[in-house]
Amino acid sequence: MTTRATLDNSARKTATDRVLILGAGGHARVVLDILQQAGLCEPVGFLDNNADIHGRRVDGLPVIGGIDALADIAKREHADGVIVAIGDNGARRGLARQVDQIGLKLISAIHPAATLAHNATIGRNVVIAAGAIVCANCQIGDSVILNTGCIVDYQTMVGEGSHICPGVRVAGRAKVEAGAFLGIGSTVVPGVTIGYESVIGAGAVVIEDVSPMATVVGIPATPIKLANASEEEVAMLAPAGA
Ligand SMILES: CC(C)(COP(=O)(O)OP(=O)(O)OC[C@H]1O[C@@H](n2cnc3c(N)ncnc32)[C@H](O)[C@@H]1OP(=O)(O)O)[C@@H](O)C(=O)NCCC(=O)NCCS
Repeated sequence: MTTRATLDNSARKTATDRVLILGAGGHARVVLDILQQAGLCEPVGFLDNNADIHGRRVDGLPVIGGIDALADIAKREHADGVIVAIGDNGARRGLARQVDQIGLKLISAIHPAATLAHNATIGRNVVIAAGAIVCANCQIGDSVILNTGCIVDYQTMVGEGSHICPGVRVAGRAKVEAGAFLGIGSTVVPGVTIGYESVIGAGAVVIEDVSPMATVVGIPATPIKLANASEEEVAMLAPAGA
């Protein structure tokens, strides 16, 4: 399910008051800051499976317990919203699906200093950091991270669970398939398809399609790793909607 941004940027709004943040690492701290800057909900606490940090405070917010106890903790804390703030693409996507199954609401964190076109479509559990720009007619899938200062230009699709790192520039009409990782400062020319679960190295310039599950680096970007599977197996592993 996606939210269509309107002229008043309603994709930023959430009907949820009390929110639990899954994960308590570096990315989760960024997400907390974005939620606080946006001021549209009340972060209640972090959940993290590292029991050593349970009971501690991270940036002033308590680590309440483990992610496994999400349903019970949400009930106890009267929290109805959840955001999965885990950097690993697969883990983030998988946990978001579990949150759905529990019946809690996935919310997005959109920094007030991000710029969204009025007709961009933004999924759930999306993080859009400060300075990110999403241009006209883009479609941003569930559980995507658009990190600090990245640019996603017109009519580009970003698939579920992808991570567009800080300073990345994706030109218009590109397709970033599910679970792709675009490393810091990389550039993608117009109309290119970045295959699902591929990795684009820091600073790479992608001028042609990238195969699913490949790793490419350099200018122009060339593969240093290809999927360790046959074409048929790779096709079978394609995430839904990729
Ligand atoms: C692409 C990347 C994932 C490869 O990591 P890796 O699989 O561990 O690969 P290695 O470090 O073993 O490097 C393999 C080769 O690729 C080269 N290489 C790796 N990353 C490169 C890059 N970004 N640009 C150019 N060459 C690169 C290495 O120099 C090495 O070359 P060699 O075989 O001639 O010695 C990683 O280097 C990278 O760029 N990560 C991006 C991280 C990032 O953006 N983080 C931001 C988080 S918000």
